[in-house]
Parts: sequence; C-alpha cells; structure tokens
Amino acid sequence: MKILVIHGPNLNVLGKREQEVYGSVTMEEINSVLKNEARGLGVEIEFFQSNSEGEIVTKIQEAMEGVEGIVINPAAYTHTSIAIRDAVAAAGIPTVEVHISNVFKREEFRHKSLISPVALGVISGLGVDGYVLALRGLVGHLNKNPRP
Ligand code: DQA
Repeated sequence: MKILVIHGPNLNVLGKREQEVYGSVTMEEINSVLKNEARGLGVEIEFFQSNSEGEIVTKIQEAMEGVEGIVINPAAYTHTSIAIRDAVAAAGIPTVEVHISNVFKREEFRHKSLISPVALGVISGLGVDGYVLALRGLVGHLNKNPRP
C-alpha cells in the first residue's frame, strides 16, 4: 500500500518560519518521523512539496495511478484553492488534511477550508504529532476499507 504526503507552500521553510506558530521542527524532520511510522505500519510512503498550486493539482492527478491514500497539508491553499479541492474530489483517493497549528484559533480567514468537505478527516493544532496521527488513521481506514 502506497501513501503520498503532500506539503503545500512555505512548508519547505518550516523550522525557520514563524517559530512561535509552527515550532522549530523542519519538513525533513517530519518526513523522517513519517518514514519510520510508515515502516512500522508496513506501508510505502512518498513525499512531495510544492509552492505551486498547479504542481500540487498535477501530483494529485498522477496519484490516481498507484497511490491508495494521501496526507496533505495544503497550507495557505487550504483557504483559497478550488483547484486542489476539485483534484482531491476527482481523484477519489482517501485524503487526510493536516494543519500544524489550530487554524480555528487564528485569523478568521483561516477558519474556512475548501479541502475539508472532500477530505476523509482533518487534524489541526497537534503539531508534528498530527501528521503521525493522520498516517495511522488513514492506514487504519484503508485496511478496513480496501479498494475494490
Ligand atoms: C497551516 C495553516 C495555514 O493557515 C497556513 O497558511 C500554513 C500552515 C498549518 O499547518 O498550520 O501555511 O496549514
């Protein structure tokens, strides 16, 4: 079983970026934690980061060939991207949305996610642990609901 992890814009500078909001952990460190977790769960994992909406849409389309589940932090595109939402809906791949910060505690423009209505589930505010929980939850779901 293959899982794709997508990091949206500005997550490549995690660790340097607004540490009071996002902490000091880097994207590479998150990927390394997820790689270990994936090994324990017995699943294959691939990582992708882009600052570009179109590249994320293309990656989701390509995932229709061979990827069983997606963990995505769409970052700022969460609140603006109909294109990413449509790609998730079109792909029909169970997708868990993750946010490091609790977006509901923050500015009002972050309270609305265009992705959540097409996601399997959403985790927000648990930092790096959120990614691990998302991966476990997603794999649990896929094990219970194998693709026909
Ligand atoms: C974020 C929250 C978004 O509102 C923001 O634009 C991000 C990161 C998070 O992980 O908390 O870039 O998705």
